[in-house]
Amino acid sequence: MRQSSLVVVANRLPLDDSAARDGACEWRRSPGGLSGALHAILQQTPATWVGWDGEIGLSPRLPDIGSVRLRPVALSAEEQAGYYEGFANSTLWPLYHDAVQQPVFQREWWETYRSVNQRFAEAAAEVAGKHAAVWVQDYHLQLVPRMLRELRPDLLIGFFMHVPFPPPELFMQLPRRVELLRGMLGADLVGFQREQAAHNLAQLAQKLLGADATDDAITVGGRTVRTGAFPVSIDVGEMRALATRPDVVAQVKQLRHDLGEAKRVLVSVDRLDYTKGIEHRLTAYRELLRDGHVKVRDTVLVQVAVPSRERVESYRDLRDRIEGEVGRINGEYGRVGEPAIHYLNQPFSRAQLAALYQTADVMVVTPLRDGMNLVAKEFVAAREDGAGALVLSEFAGAAAELSQAYLVNPHDVDDLKQTLLRALEAGPEDRAARMEAMRRHIAEHDILAWARAYLTELDHTGRLARRFIGRP
Ligand code: ADP
Ligand code: F6P
Repeated sequence: MRQSSLVVVANRLPLDDSAARDGACEWRRSPGGLSGALHAILQQTPATWVGWDGEIGLSPRLPDIGSVRLRPVALSAEEQAGYYEGFANSTLWPLYHDAVQQPVFQREWWETYRSVNQRFAEAAAEVAGKHAAVWVQDYHLQLVPRMLRELRPDLLIGFFMHVPFPPPELFMQLPRRVELLRGMLGADLVGFQREQAAHNLAQLAQKLLGADATDDAITVGGRTVRTGAFPVSIDVGEMRALATRPDVVAQVKQLRHDLGEAKRVLVSVDRLDYTKGIEHRLTAYRELLRDGHVKVRDTVLVQVAVPSRERVESYRDLRDRIEGEVGRINGEYGRVGEPAIHYLNQPFSRAQLAALYQTADVMVVTPLRDGMNLVAKEFVAAREDGAGALVLSEFAGAAAELSQAYLVNPHDVDDLKQTLLRALEAGPEDRAARMEAMRRHIAEHDILAWARAYLTELDHTGRLARRFIGRP
């Protein structure tokens, strides 16, 4: 395979298997923030993307997607179980999200996580040209920076953590905490969504490695690693263009009609994940119906929950609980032809999402903890009409930027109820002023600005960013 001067290494390739099999390969985004963000950047960039295609066993030879070459890393069934479902998504994922679900530590998962990380590092080393920049993504691949540096000391290595990075009290629970820290610190630059995460890393590096650490730089073993916050964003231009496309405008009209013209519409769009706070939201909505604050006659909730990580038991259990609760609420409060909640457990196209965002009077984004939450930013970008209200969790990374949203503590069901009512009842001027400020912010801080900021910090000179992202 030819070598590239920019290599992205992420757990998943940004396409689904049907796109790969029929040969007619085009960008088909798997739901999830990471693919969406990088998809927007790499469309015009000559780069190689190293990742897993989501299938078990040997990957087919994948054609390039536009200017991007794909280098699949195949996983066996045991590796999928131990690395992806096990250590990444049953140990690290819950622990990094405030342990809102009990993390599971199984000793045999560690060796699989380590050997799969080694394979990713070897694949990256193989496709990276001399002095190339390699950008490693997320908690699945925390050991890759160090492994890659050992294989290829000539490379410039970046690491970006899309999810929260926890405080020492939580991280210290991890049986393999020292290896994980050393793995990340193999990078030249470790980026996070929020400054607090860089602070957490500095504290841990001091405590566990005896490093000389500040919130901007960590020196250990004679090497200095820079750290910092680079809040990820979305392709604002894509969402704005979709929002005004005639077929999307027609879909909005149709959706409004289908939901009952006069109704106030609340919308939520999440991966079906316990970090997203769907159960707390349903409890709040049930109580609002019970107390008569909202009535099926004039208010409806649309909950989209796209299937995710369905082989992991806690995700299957969550789905059962959510579907049971939606059924109970509709059984108790719905009317013939008028459910209290429209529940959709399916993937949507970008155009359908743009239509749904514009149908919302109130967009409800209430994760219990989230690295960023791109759905909140997509909603703001889609509202070319400047209307609509955003109810946003204080525990989403996006809250640091979208501070004009109706902020809420989603762990507090009473606060959730009051904030939903406040947003539903807010006057058009209040909503419009908030929306305008948020739209201004994301227009200036889109996905290209994120990549530019990160790559400029990575090579110090701005050459990488100019070459791969272009000028602002
Ligand atoms: P996470 O990275 O945890 O999945 P984000 O909110 O940051 O959370 O990103 C979710 C991404 O997945 C968004 O880009 C959103 O548009 C997309 N998405 C969410 N629900 C669906 C769905 N039903 N169909 C397709 N894409 C979806
Ligand atoms: O950063 C969150 C994340 O794990 C991303 O890597 C990915 O985009 C998203 O969640 C979806 O997860 P998965 O790849 O497990 O379906």
